[in-house]
Amino acid sequence: MKQFLADHFEFFRQFRQRFETTGSIAPSSRFLARALCSPLARVGNPATRRPLRILEVGPGTGAVTRKVVSLLGPNDRLDLVELNPEFVTLLRGKLASQPGFAHAGDRVLVHQVPLEEFQSDTAYDFVISGLPLNNFPPDLVQKVFDAYFRLLGPEGTLSYFEYMAIRPLRKRIGPRPERARMSAVDAIIRPHLDTRRVRKDWVFVNFPPAWVQHLQHTAEDPSAPAS
Ligand SMILES: C[S@@+](CC[C@H](N)C(=O)[O-])C[C@H]1O[C@@H](n2cnc3c(N)ncnc32)[C@H](O)[C@@H]1O
Repeated sequence: MKQFLADHFEFFRQFRQRFETTGSIAPSSRFLARALCSPLARVGNPATRRPLRILEVGPGTGAVTRKVVSLLGPNDRLDLVELNPEFVTLLRGKLASQPGFAHAGDRVLVHQVPLEEFQSDTAYDFVISGLPLNNFPPDLVQKVFDAYFRLLGPEGTLSYFEYMAIRPLRKRIGPRPERARMSAVDAIIRPHLDTRRVRKDWVFVNFPPAWVQHLQHTAEDPSAPAS
């Protein structure tokens, strides 16, 4: 309970200092974490399946990371890409000594870098993202999606969330520049959802409630990296 409150306090502090990149007043619920990790949970017994490469983007205080870590097999690798140095320090501390994280500390690497600049020589089986896309300018959303599909392996699954109905609402209500930004963001995201979405989950037990989008490369996808 003490840790839960400490995480919520730190998250709220970061929300006040860095609203645009933190994107929310509270960490994700365990129900949202479970939905984001459902494709990973479905690939089978972590002890016997093939080793996997997993990328989590925007782990924050580790609300989703805790679930990912619980699903790691002995030879899996998890990369965490986090922009905010305060969250990076907190995550490294958890991976060094906190129950629920530390048992997998040797399989997890924290990278302090914006996703759009992150380079990796491996294609990921799973990309799990908490980036607040609806807060971003359109050119950043474009760069984020380019990075998602550059890093995702040919058979991989990208899972990310967005707060329910925010984009459709903010496209219609509010100041004109904000409506224009939201429409431009929607024009970037919509084609990905139309062509690459394999599933959408509705998570009501979260503040605010969220949609989880699961996407994969299409067969004709020119950006699908070689195995
Ligand atoms: C909505 S919070 C999600 C935190 C956590 N995944 C959760 O669900 O509780 C967004 C996170 O993305 C991080 N972030 C924002 N922009 C980023 C970027 N360009 N690259 C990497 N991380 C970023 C923020 O610092 C923050 O930790």
